[in-house]
Amino acid sequence: MTPIEAFDMVLFGGTGDLVMRKLLPALYHQHQDGNLPTAGRIICLGRSATDTAGYLAKAHAMAQGYLGTHYNDADWQSFAERISYLKVDATVPAEFQGLADALNEFPGRVRVFYLSTAPDLFAPISKSLAGVGLNKGNARVVLEKPLGHDLESSNKINDEVGEHFEEHQIYRIDHYLGKEPVLNLIALRFANTLLEPLWRREWIRDVQITVTEQVGVETRADFYDKAGALRDMIQNHLLQLLTIVAMEPPASIDADAVRDEKLKILRALKPLTPETVLTNVVRGQYRAGAVSAKPVPGYLEEPGVPANSRTETFVALKAEIQTWRWAGVPFFLRTGKRLQERMAEIVINFREAPHSIFGRNTTPNRLVIQLQPDESVRLYLMAKEPGNQFRLRPVHLDLDFKEFFESRSPEAYERLLMDVIRGDLSLFVRRDEQRAAWKWVEPILDTWENSLDAPKPYTAGTWGPAASSALLSREGMSWHEEG
Ligand code: BG6
Repeated sequence: MTPIEAFDMVLFGGTGDLVMRKLLPALYHQHQDGNLPTAGRIICLGRSATDTAGYLAKAHAMAQGYLGTHYNDADWQSFAERISYLKVDATVPAEFQGLADALNEFPGRVRVFYLSTAPDLFAPISKSLAGVGLNKGNARVVLEKPLGHDLESSNKINDEVGEHFEEHQIYRIDHYLGKEPVLNLIALRFANTLLEPLWRREWIRDVQITVTEQVGVETRADFYDKAGALRDMIQNHLLQLLTIVAMEPPASIDADAVRDEKLKILRALKPLTPETVLTNVVRGQYRAGAVSAKPVPGYLEEPGVPANSRTETFVALKAEIQTWRWAGVPFFLRTGKRLQERMAEIVINFREAPHSIFGRNTTPNRLVIQLQPDESVRLYLMAKEPGNQFRLRPVHLDLDFKEFFESRSPEAYERLLMDVIRGDLSLFVRRDEQRAAWKWVEPILDTWENSLDAPKPYTAGTWGPAASSALLSREGMSWHEEG
């Protein structure tokens, strides 16, 4: 692995939620584990007229909350020495000179510009960075999602950022790709011979990718109501997971070798039409209910949500991949807010035994890769129950990473931030991948926009609208937790 070089990490949106909740804690962990070189600065930018001491006081209070038992006074003190705050209004090009002066104290360092801002600032920030010469040499720019609102707006942002940064300098982040079990799925698939012969239509009946949340729209109504679950989760996180499950073995682990294979899958997704959107895609919106026995309001009663909003908080859909390996295997994707449990998992359902000598008493094999809340891989097989009778029961082989490796599993952002500093693009989304993903979801967006139907209501604390179960049951299948 490439060693970490001296670096300056500049966090735009330094007072924002993502920096406080995810990025600073991630960097703290890496500092604590001794993975950051001494020559590594973190420069947080914001519009507030505070100074480093004032900023650190706020960051400290937030970090203590988010780090929980990992927080340690001495480690925080040494970590905080890396951090400085600079008042820069990202919309004012003249204010970038101060940033350039600060960075030019150490020429030649890796420079990471993490744009944790609204996407309409990506282009102006890139332009202003270039205006003061900060796009040169070892400069890298990290773009947070959402990158645009649809194909056209994402093309526009990519074109504009691309005027100032070359593609190899652009890191489009999808934090799901940094989750340990996702990396383990890559290892499982491509470091073992066992699964490869089975990883195809002859043996796999269907694939289910589920990311459910218990939280509602929280304080993000302004963003969320314009986005909805399709743009917020499916276009990026779930489609990226699908590519990892479905891609052909790449020739190497090089960034472009992996991304070429992922792209082929996105391009092989069967295009949806207005007719198939109606049959293969379910959208829902939560109504008041109870999550973990706690009463919660409906989406339309959430602060900041228009009373007539048609934004979906739930999506379930069936995707098909038009390749020899996957023809005829449905990939069911599902995500939503205010659902029964917080869970992220990939389920591979194998076909039934071609001839059962045990009658109907068998359940097909199943591989479950759980990303959240626990990280595990579980293979369900049939076994005989002890006793005189020949009674079968599903049992599972478990790979519990926490127990086996006895080491802390890093958060997705830790891994991805270190990859940016190292210059490893493998787990970042290339422009053509992003384009293909937007292109595939666009007929869904268009059909919904032109439809008079509202999203299907579901009660908070359930698994979503009944139509989600019906999507599978009409093919003789059911969601993992129902089966
Ligand atoms: C983000 C979405 O990308 O992912 C949020 O914008 C969502 O709406 C979050 O809550 C889920 O991420 P995680 O890692 O908590 O499952």
